[in-house]
Amino acid sequence: MLGTTVIEYLLVTQKNNPMATGAFTRLLNGIIVAAKVIQREVAKAGLVDILGYAGRQNVQGEQVQKLDDFANTTMINRLQASGEACVLASEEVADLIEIPPKFKKGNYAVIFDPLDGSSNIDVNVSIGTIFSIYRRVTSGDGDGTLEDLLQPGYKQAAAGYIIYGSSTVLVLSAGNGVHGFTMDPSLGEFILSNENIQIPERGKVFSVNEGNYNFWDDGARKYVDYIKNPAADHKRIYSGRYIGSLVADFHRNLLQGGIFLYPADHKDPRKPKGKLRLMCEANPMSFIVEQAGGAASTGDQRILDIVPEELHQRVPLIIGSKKDVETFVDFHRGQR
Ligand code: AHG
Ligand code: MN
Ligand code: MN
Repeated sequence: MLGTTVIEYLLVTQKNNPMATGAFTRLLNGIIVAAKVIQREVAKAGLVDILGYAGRQNVQGEQVQKLDDFANTTMINRLQASGEACVLASEEVADLIEIPPKFKKGNYAVIFDPLDGSSNIDVNVSIGTIFSIYRRVTSGDGDGTLEDLLQPGYKQAAAGYIIYGSSTVLVLSAGNGVHGFTMDPSLGEFILSNENIQIPERGKVFSVNEGNYNFWDDGARKYVDYIKNPAADHKRIYSGRYIGSLVADFHRNLLQGGIFLYPADHKDPRKPKGKLRLMCEANPMSFIVEQAGGAASTGDQRILDIVPEELHQRVPLIIGSKKDVETFVDFHRGQR
């Protein structure tokens, strides 16, 4: 028999929640439809003239590719039309994104990375879309503001990602565990495939761009030396696995256990806190990993406790199996 679709799953889980109004499902449906449209374009990226650089840079000075633009516009359009968002923000847009007057405004603020891992588009490697959802904190039913977006990660109402890989998978948490839904391409539906995902307490994989080794602090260098030392007390042989798409590296580690690191480095003085963005990358992934029993830290602080100051701030991200993240923190603090 055909499994449960993601919308059916949401409707059933919401039935048990007296606060549920269907608004969250309508919002999520906007993201799901956007994901289907984006995955269709990703699948034919090599065929059409959508591939390659758009010839401009995003607000963070990185080259934007056409598929990024397409994914960005698709997410914005669908979320605006859902009638359930009061304000949006995207990695690709410097300022917050308002909801045009013709659409109803709702109670959610959404921030997203429309296409993560975009350097991998041209080489047929998995990429993804990441999203983070907050309940609005400003009153009334008018436009949302920056205040609705700049909330610490522990306040997320839900977070998720879609990975455009060998299959397209949606991973979602609304604070009641982490669930995976795999796209059945013949139906165009996401079907429940991984209920209640738990990340192993310790893994055997480490994912990091070791090209930055000489730019890291002592703690990160010593940790990676330790991981690779077969004589160390962990008594494990860790495998290095690094795709260079956060979504793909994270997804593998979520299912199989492991640690992903993007520590701070001294490579680029404009990015002293590493590369990844708090609001659209670190927070949603950290919400998911904690819901799955894992952990996420900067080395100094739990990611979800950070009080954000601006939409595009960057943050060191150490995320994955709980015990592996704890060991990193020990090294970072100089306690090992
Ligand atoms: P984006 O494509 O949204 O800019 O994100 C790319 C990120 C992330 O997906 C990945 O983990 C990281 O960049 C890889 O960075 P390096 O190439 O520096 O290792
Ligand atoms: Mn990204
Ligand atoms: Mn991106």
